[in-house]
Amino acid sequence: MRTSVAIIGAGPAGMFLAHLLAAEGIDAIVIERRDRAYVEGRVRAGVLEQVTTDLMHRLGLGERLDREGLVHGGTQISLDGSLFRIDMAELTGGSAVTVYGQQEVMHDLFEAAPARGLRIEWNAEDVTLEGLDTDAPVVRWHKDGEAHELRCDFVAGCDGYHGVSRASIPADVLRTFERVYPFGWLGILADVPPADHELIYANHERGFALASMRSATRSRYYIQCGLDESIEDWPDERFWDELCLRIGPEAASRVTRGASFEKSIAPLRSFVSEPMRWGRLFLAGDAAHIVPPTGAKGMNLAVSDVMFLGEALVEHYRGGSQAGLDGYSTRALARVWKAERFSWWFTSITHRFPEMDGFARRIQAAELDYIRGSRAAQRTLAENYVGLPMGTA
Ligand code: FAD
Ligand code: DHB
Repeated sequence: MRTSVAIIGAGPAGMFLAHLLAAEGIDAIVIERRDRAYVEGRVRAGVLEQVTTDLMHRLGLGERLDREGLVHGGTQISLDGSLFRIDMAELTGGSAVTVYGQQEVMHDLFEAAPARGLRIEWNAEDVTLEGLDTDAPVVRWHKDGEAHELRCDFVAGCDGYHGVSRASIPADVLRTFERVYPFGWLGILADVPPADHELIYANHERGFALASMRSATRSRYYIQCGLDESIEDWPDERFWDELCLRIGPEAASRVTRGASFEKSIAPLRSFVSEPMRWGRLFLAGDAAHIVPPTGAKGMNLAVSDVMFLGEALVEHYRGGSQAGLDGYSTRALARVWKAERFSWWFTSITHRFPEMDGFARRIQAAELDYIRGSRAAQRTLAENYVGLPMGTA
């Protein structure tokens, strides 16, 4: 088999890139380790930046998003139970975020794929990448016991944090930067109306909590938990009690309790690997970087990476210029590091850290109180939260 661009991984990065290339008539094949049901079933991100919704519209994938997505022009912050609002739309000249789950995004990307001639090789086992530093890379894998081979011009490594792409770059080329946080997020989904029509990010002495949603009848809630805890430690009633304590009495009075149908713990990590290109391999999304979920940036960053990469590949195939491909890593990393900074900062002012003493706690409270009272501080938060424009990346 031969194609122009071999895309490893059918997550948001891989599938958005496949659609971007198909729209420009560039040949690509996506190679995915799991099956569609698995990729679509993973409960992950929930908040889309304007950049992401704009791209969905540009690709003709905005129809259900327009119908079902919840546009949020503001968000609530709670400090020890006292709520204040950040009017993101007003502070940013009209920008907003849209609540539309990653599962819905993946569904739309997969549904539109066949009609656009997008090819996805599912259940590809033991994927290996060869000849990445030559003009003729080769991707090999097994499926149902049979060996497969794909020759290509370029490989897009969109296979997430645990994928094969980053691991194929020689260790002496890669530099990695990391912070591992001493806590995780315990998240639940329940078919109950959300506590508020906007999200509530809560800093409480007992730890962080987040009230989010998927629709007017489906809530998504998170609480900070210890890394040694398991979901068995958290029966629904204990979860609801703790959530209500942390978001405070005013918001808690609007919480509808119910049985959760999903419950999982995710560790928090900041991670960046540089460069994002080696030879003919280009990394995008979680394959190159991880953010703690607090800023809701993970999936949005995967999308902005492949927008840069898609542009560079189009420039190459249209006019033969290498400039975009040569500049990809620098351009993408400039935006990535700003999102890393924001996600790290927002995590640091909203979570309880084990080593936190009275001084550190009061500094945190003072910072949130400063945001409550300062339009300048609110604006800084708002413009990062809705997503920095691609142009100033
Ligand atoms: P992925 O979504 O990881 O997709 C990579 C794809 O590559 C997968 O389909 C995988 O099966 C495939 N793959 C892996 N290895 C191979 C291989 N060797 N060969 C072939 N295919 C391979 N972000 C938020 O903004 N908010 C959240 O609440 C949030 N929650 C999260 C919870 C969890 C548990 C995780 C892991 C992430 C969460 N994120 C969240 C982050 C967000 O979901 C990711 O940033 C986003 O999925 C990144 O997209 P991606 O396409 O780069 O990677
Ligand atoms: C959701 C996840 C986030 O990480 C976040 O910051 C906001 C919302 C969510 O899953 O709804």
